[in-house]
Order: sequence, then C-alpha cells, then structure tokens
Amino acid sequence: MKPKTPLNVDLLRADFPILTREIGSANKKLIYLDSTATAQKPTDVIDAMNDFYRLNNANIHRGVHTLAEESTAMYESGREQVAALINASPREVIFTRNTTESINLVAYSWARTNLQAGDLIILTEMEHHSNLVPWQMLEAERGVRLEFVPITNDYLFDMDAYRELLKQEPKLVSFTQMSNVLGTITPAKEIIRLAHEVGAITLVDAAQSVPHLPVDVRDLDADFMAFSAHKMVGPSGIGALYGKLDLLNAMPPFMGGGDMIKTVHLRSFATNEVPYKFEAGTPAIAEAIGFGAAAAYLQNIGMDAIAAHEQEMSEYVLEHLEEIPGITVIGPSAAHKGAVASFVMDGVHPHDVAQILDADGIAVRAGHHCAQPLHEKCGIQSTTRASFYLYNTKEEVDALVEGIYKVKKIFG
Ligand code: ALA
Repeated sequence: MKPKTPLNVDLLRADFPILTREIGSANKKLIYLDSTATAQKPTDVIDAMNDFYRLNNANIHRGVHTLAEESTAMYESGREQVAALINASPREVIFTRNTTESINLVAYSWARTNLQAGDLIILTEMEHHSNLVPWQMLEAERGVRLEFVPITNDYLFDMDAYRELLKQEPKLVSFTQMSNVLGTITPAKEIIRLAHEVGAITLVDAAQSVPHLPVDVRDLDADFMAFSAHKMVGPSGIGALYGKLDLLNAMPPFMGGGDMIKTVHLRSFATNEVPYKFEAGTPAIAEAIGFGAAAAYLQNIGMDAIAAHEQEMSEYVLEHLEEIPGITVIGPSAAHKGAVASFVMDGVHPHDVAQILDADGIAVRAGHHCAQPLHEKCGIQSTTRASFYLYNTKEEVDALVEGIYKVKKIFG
C-alpha cells in the first residue's frame, strides 16, 4: 500500500479481513478496541506467511537446496525490515518469542553476568508484569535491589523522584515507553540520558510504543529494547530484542542448542556470532517473515501518520468518556498518552461492562491487564480498557459511548 499522510482509515481498513466480521446471533459489526492486547493483521502479513508455507517452506541456515536458501533469505529479510523500523542494524536485532522473552534474555544473560548482590535496578510503578517478575526473580536469586519510580498524581513518570533515585547509582534502568494501562508515554530519551550519566544500562519495554509511535533506537540511545510482533499487526509467537552490539557481543548465550553454536565437541562448544548466538533451535520462521511484513506495512503507512491518528483518537475518546456521569478514566491527559482508555464505572464490575459491550460487537478488555501493582497503586482492582489503533474510527468511539450508556441503563 502507498504511503499516505494523514491516514486514510477507510481505505486501510480494507487491508484487515477480520474487520468485516459480525459478532453474536444479532450479527453486530465487530468493533475491535483491544489492540493493546493484540492487534489485528493485514492481508500483507497473512499472505506473506501463507505464501511462505505454500511455496518456500524449509529450515533456515542449514541447507544448500533452493528452498533452504529462499527460507533463509526471507527470514533474514524479516530481520532487516524489523531493524529498519527502529533504525537499528539487523545484527542488533535478536528474534525472541515476545517482549517477555526479550526482557528475560537480558535478565538471564546480561544481568546475571554483570550484577551482584546489592546492585540497584530502577523500574517504575507502571510496569507490566513482564518487566517486574524477571527482576523480582533476580532479586530473590542474587540479592539485587529494586526501586520504583512512582507515578505522579496525574499519572506521569515522576522525573524528580527518578533524579533522586539516580543518586544511588543504579546499574540498570528498565522502564516502559508507553504504559499498557494508563497509556502514559514516558520521556524515554531523557530517562536514558540521565541513566547514562550515572553509568547505568537501559532497557526499554517498547511493547506498546514501537507499534504506535516513531521509535528510533539510535536517537534514544537505548542499550536494550524489547517488543512483540503481535501488537504491531504481526503474528504472535515472535518478538525482538534490540541490543547495542558491544553489549550483545559480551553477553553469554541465553539458551543452548542448534544454530547458536559455531562448533561443538563432546565437552565444549564455541558460540555463533550475534544475533545467532541468541537464537537457539529452529526459530519461528514464518512468523519472522510475517514480522518483517508487519514492520514494512507500518513503515509504508508512516509511523508519524499512525501516531497523529491515534493522538486524535485519544483526544476524542477522552473527551467523550469523561463526560459520561459515573465514569472515571485512569490515566493522564491526551497530550501525554497513547490511544488507550482504561476506566472504571461506579457500581459496575469491569467484566460486566466488557460482557455487555461484547453483546454489541464491541471488544474491550477487562481486568488488571498484567499490571496488578499499578492497579493497587491507583486503589482499584481492575479496569475496563478500550484501546485504539490505525484502523479505528471516531464512529467506533461513538458506538463505545452508546454501549456504556446501555450498561448504565442495565445497572440502573
Ligand atoms: N500486555 C497485553 C495487554 O496489555 C497482554 O493486554
């Protein structure tokens, strides 16, 4: 598809076959507002994967026959497309299963080599469980210390508190670039700059930012960055870890097995070079090709155009949700967030809200969204979350608002 700025949403919706689905016995048109959990897939991605299985399927890096060479070239081209989206070199992009595995790779390979008891890791209160639990496990195993940058009363990254914590000279600062609950966009470049001033390494959880914002690892000067294909119109089962080459070269492998080695003897092995050193076993080949197609699809449309559309959606949805009596949106003002609206409704459980909306074909998520500590901090157990992407429209926001009024009516 040709680049277009601003987004032509009506035109690009035709790229997503699932958006024509009808839901339930009443045949309600699907209104998909759960892209923060996983995004829908365009035909470019579906076709790339199907075509691979129909025409090219073979294992990679292992054969000299035509199909093996084609598969290897397609897999590596997927890596190049993903690298191009974030302005990295392909060697700096390791394919993993998802953001969670990417963070665990850093926790096992880099942190267990470089951190000792008493060393400080700075996280934030708005992290997803995937950027909390690996560090809690390391704390239990190695005695590292964890400190958390609080969120301000208006749900932003507390820069003053961060500056104070930096005085304790952390070894690692690991933080989300966009909260999957609040939508808060953190000042990643400044966070990284300040971390580097005290000699800390940085890891950016970019699961929500790479799909929705222009992200440039060189401009950010990030040391590591983790993200998943499935949240950026690509397939599930594959993600990426970006790492600076000198760091990756110095790290031991994460998992042992085929492909990550150069030579193996009965009692020894030599590791392959980066990125293969971290890709043990037959990888998700079709998924890497789909990941590349997803990156190319987004880049072709333009991340600036996508971000601008979502900013407009964010303003529209906040304006309309906040005027509904009894609805409280949890998160900052539209200027500081992505197109995510998590809310609570007086007297109604988020699961009931989601279920009633589903009867009208509206898909939202209810729960703690894998960020239980953040909900605890906000004094709530769960929220209903509507999240938006390049294919969502203002008419769909209107339908959500109408659906919420229906919920209010049912619950009196
Ligand atoms: N992290 C995903 C979400 O926020 C699963 O829904």
